[in-house]
Amino acid sequence: MRQARQQLVDTLLPTVEIAVPEEGDSLDPAQLFAETKQEVWLEIGFGSGEHLAQQAIENPSVGIIGCEPYINGVARLLADIDKFDLKNVRIFRDDARILLRTMPDQSICRAFVLFPDPWPKVRHHKRRIIGPSTIPSLARLLPVDAELRIATDDPSYKEWILQHMLVDDGFVWRARRPQDWRVRPGDWPSTRYEMKANAAGRQCSYFMFDRRD
Ligand SMILES: C[S@@+](CC[C@H](N)C(=O)[O-])C[C@H]1O[C@@H](n2cnc3c(N)ncnc32)[C@H](O)[C@@H]1O
Repeated sequence: MRQARQQLVDTLLPTVEIAVPEEGDSLDPAQLFAETKQEVWLEIGFGSGEHLAQQAIENPSVGIIGCEPYINGVARLLADIDKFDLKNVRIFRDDARILLRTMPDQSICRAFVLFPDPWPKVRHHKRRIIGPSTIPSLARLLPVDAELRIATDDPSYKEWILQHMLVDDGFVWRARRPQDWRVRPGDWPSTRYEMKANAAGRQCSYFMFDRRD
């Protein structure tokens, strides 16, 4: 890691990092931010953080929690937090599922899972972050009408996401026509992974689900 980034990890990260909670702890996301925030959003697996940083810039009244264990990605997001003086970002540098278990019901107003690792081999499908255990956790955290955004470029994961999301009573898929999932909406910044997928000619899917009663 370059020296400047290492310095951000040493000095800036401790000011924005969410400590790993102890077993049985509860973590209120609204309490993580110095100023009161209208809403708190969650991004799982932010990679290098391009999407998260852009959302934080465009939505200063929202607090955004990003989960990402990959330290080089964390360092890249820290560089943006520093460059744009972002006060509304907090970072959890561990498995997002720990946070999902720890936060109270209806405490997150929007969640993003963008290009999660596809785990294409059938025997690895159980490692996929979108699945039977995380979907109910996300449903618990999101209030009615809150939005869950998921993207993938992997055809088998696309089918998997739809199969698992559509059988869950907690969410309704917003799409009415193919453009609704083939075209990335304007308020959805792109990511590094997505750019690579596009460069390789892979079709990306952009799913928006609403939490329903
Ligand atoms: C394929 S990358 C996509 C990164 C980014 N969202 C993008 O679109 O460029 C998937 C990311 O999810 C992270 N990840 C995988 N499992 C995770 C978990 N359980 N909790 C949080 N992040 C996770 C990985 O470290 C990786 O950076």
